[in-house]
Amino acid sequence: LANGAKAGKTRNILEKMDESEKNCIVFYGSQTGTAEDYASRLSKEGSQRFGLKTMVADLEDYDYENLDTFPEDKLAIFVLATYGEGEPTDNAVDFYEFVTGQDVSFSNGGAADEKPLESLKFVAFGLGNNTYEHYNSMVRRVNDALVKLGASRIGKAGEGDDGAGTMEEDFLAWKEPMWAELSEKLGLEEREAVYEPVLSITEREDLDADADEVYLGEPSKHHLEGSQKGPYDSHNPYIAPIVESREVFTVKDRNCLHMEIDVKGSNLTYTTGDHIAVWPTNAGKEVDRFINILGLAEKRHKVISVKGLDSTAKVPFPTPTTYDAAIRYHMEICGAVSRQFVSSLAPFAPNENSKAEMTKLGNDKDYFSDKVSSQYLNIAQVLERVDSSQWTNIPFSILIEGIHKIQPRYYSISSSSLVQKDKISITAVVEEIRIPGSDNIVKGVTTNYLLALKQKQHGDPHPDPHGLTYSITGPRNKYDGIHVPVHVRHSNFKLPSDPSKPIIMVGPGSGVAPFRGFIQERAAQAQAGENVGQTILFYGCRRASEDYLYKEEWEHYKQILGDKFTLITAFSRDGPKKVYVQQRLQENAALVNQLLEKEKSNFYVCGDAANMARAVNDVLGKIISEHRGVSPEKGEEIVKAMRASNQYQEDVWS
Ligand code: 2AM
Repeated sequence: LANGAKAGKTRNILEKMDESEKNCIVFYGSQTGTAEDYASRLSKEGSQRFGLKTMVADLEDYDYENLDTFPEDKLAIFVLATYGEGEPTDNAVDFYEFVTGQDVSFSNGGAADEKPLESLKFVAFGLGNNTYEHYNSMVRRVNDALVKLGASRIGKAGEGDDGAGTMEEDFLAWKEPMWAELSEKLGLEEREAVYEPVLSITEREDLDADADEVYLGEPSKHHLEGSQKGPYDSHNPYIAPIVESREVFTVKDRNCLHMEIDVKGSNLTYTTGDHIAVWPTNAGKEVDRFINILGLAEKRHKVISVKGLDSTAKVPFPTPTTYDAAIRYHMEICGAVSRQFVSSLAPFAPNENSKAEMTKLGNDKDYFSDKVSSQYLNIAQVLERVDSSQWTNIPFSILIEGIHKIQPRYYSISSSSLVQKDKISITAVVEEIRIPGSDNIVKGVTTNYLLALKQKQHGDPHPDPHGLTYSITGPRNKYDGIHVPVHVRHSNFKLPSDPSKPIIMVGPGSGVAPFRGFIQERAAQAQAGENVGQTILFYGCRRASEDYLYKEEWEHYKQILGDKFTLITAFSRDGPKKVYVQQRLQENAALVNQLLEKEKSNFYVCGDAANMARAVNDVLGKIISEHRGVSPEKGEEIVKAMRASNQYQEDVWS
């Protein structure tokens, strides 16, 4: 079986389209679910507005050797996210390597130099982040490769920018001219979009919520049966015991959690610098808000079965389940709301006024931005504000289809695998954003979930802000103690294999997480008698007395590593003027340059992508230019080359 193949399922995309009578396939290359969401929106729009027979497909579920026989009267749409340093998303790696390969050859004999894809018509949209160097490189490269192979693109290859925060509007602005060109080229007639469900929901009168076969948060059948089974990965989390949780800030109004997660016996392995994925649960308060505004309170624990109306529709969670469990564990109800989704709900508004308001929100970009996006409202809050009566006309299927499925969140592991191979630690600042000019307070779903787990573990008497009166394993409690569903993702953010090589690390705030792992590792190596090189950490936080992470631990490592370890701090709010890590880099320019140039030291940056990592990149270019007597442009070039050779490594987020 080829990679990712599931027993009994064809990997032949043409066969699949034929047997399900589709003429348009929307592929997605997605890491966090956004590209998948856009793919499903394009699919729906294609079918509802233009009468296309559409299906959505995960790129990793099919093979591409027969793309050269893709029929002329069919269409392929590619929605492709760019990930990390310009890489394809995990599910798109094989596809990407195939179409961009040097000597791509097709099963029907088509070779790269003969334009084998002449019959393939395609549409492309990319999701990228302008704060990263390889902006939207995935869609650009795939587009170039397909065109080179003879395929013809319809519309522009669209590019959405998450860095500028305009992804959604970029997408909306791109798709209208694309649809116009498409309907002209394919002779499609536009009609008024009417909602056609892809999923069917059946309320089960024959089952109670406490029946053994009903899923109440269990992510798979094994979990339902009370025994989990690996391999654990992005499709199957390991429900891991939290063996330690503590607060690492010394200030009352903000929280930063340190958690130790036991993965012994799971076969999950990690190496220092990897990421751990945490699968969250929605806050009880938000689940209640959603259920109440939709008028589902009476039947929240009613059992439902969800089925695809044709063989290409994917049910995003296991069923039978209950309304409550589907919403609580599987739907991203606190996520950003799209204009298109608001439009799609307008026909189901409880009265004419609210229908008009929903339509206006859907059509008017600035109005929507003012009322919804700038206040970070979630969908239930939008409905509440438009009309506080219950929205009982909204079909549940449109909610499952239109709301993202909950995605795991990735955290840089803050422990060393050499020191504790079966225990993974997380360092996470609990997010709570007060929106200026709004009464809305947005709470990070996952970090607040972790905080609630910590409070539960400590038997904290305070009311639980997460409304978490149960564990992820559902009310059934099949596991003892406090657990969190996790898996591990391997990264390229790695210590040099030779411990005697010097390293420079820049990690303000929770960006220090992987460096705690790095330093823990080097301390252990030193204790084992190995020769450890210069280990320099630039760390920044607001105040020495408030959010200084791991202060005592650094002192401990200093005792072990002696003059091999240097900690350079920047407290931004302790003095009259802000001091950031990049200023400290500048102050230590001679040393930094010497280590980089003479000793080929690695340089690591972790934390905020948009501002900090950019500023550090620029300062380094300046340092190099000044200390090597080269032009600023040359300095930048050297930094670029350091990135390309992996001397400069980033683990950043926005
Ligand atoms: P501030 O919040 O006081 O501005 C961890 O968040 C630390 O990073 C804080 O001290 C924060 O300072 C600082 N920080 C904020 N913006 C930054 C930037 N652009 N570059 C470097 N550090 C920054």
